Amino acid sequence: MAKLSINVDHVATLREARKAKEPDPVAAAIAAEMAGADGITVHLRGDRRHIQDRDLKILRGVVKTTLNLEMAATNEMMEIALQIKPDMVTLVPEKEGEVTTEGGLDVDGNFEKLNQVIAKLQLNGVLVSLFVNPDEESIKTSAKLRADYVEINTDSYACARNVAEQIAQLERLERMATLTHRLNLGINMGHGLDYRNIVNLVQIQHIHEFSIGHAIVGRAVLVGFEKAVREMLDLVKR
Ligand code: PXP
Repeated sequence: MAKLSINVDHVATLREARKAKEPDPVAAAIAAEMAGADGITVHLRGDRRHIQDRDLKILRGVVKTTLNLEMAATNEMMEIALQIKPDMVTLVPEKEGEVTTEGGLDVDGNFEKLNQVIAKLQLNGVLVSLFVNPDEESIKTSAKLRADYVEINTDSYACARNVAEQIAQLERLERMATLTHRLNLGINMGHGLDYRNIVNLVQIQHIHEFSIGHAIVGRAVLVGFEKAVREMLDLVKR
């Protein structure tokens, strides 16, 4: 059965919108683990738009499942990763000004750099996953790079505009999962997954872990809204 790692970046996004102390992504991570989540994911961006260095440090201390750090393969992030030593690093491309990660890594174009970064992380006991688009070349190159996992980008499936396109993208993900498994790489999947599109995806064999953030944080806001209003009404109308 596939595992589920909860990405708590968006809790930090809400906090940073006010430059406040709450909501704290660390509290969200603890709540996620109490609910049974298998792991916690955070993306420490170069611009520190949501997750802060402080979050990562505290999370390393409190996460009892597995901590997955998404990051760009920059010198700054490598220094942080080697100091914090998360259980896994997922290497992602990072573009200035992007709203979210816009696609998979160019693993062929960055082969030498990735080769060095992966070896260094693995030597320090950190598992490495490469966020790649669902194409054969990227997955084959990830195997040559001796990554531990690939995280297959599910965005084209999640953004499918009709049922036929969604089925085609689902079949593509299934083929890529088979190839990845054959190449002895672990399979993670994520990006754009929600309460509807996950249902078909869980049928795919050999998936180690799904990484999901936006849909869960978005739903948490709505399922918790009534309770939050009632709690404030209790205080105001006391
Ligand atoms: N995987 C990667 C590599 C990501 O960059 C993100 C977004 O931070 C996710 C998974 C989670 O995507 P979503 O927030 O759409 O669930």
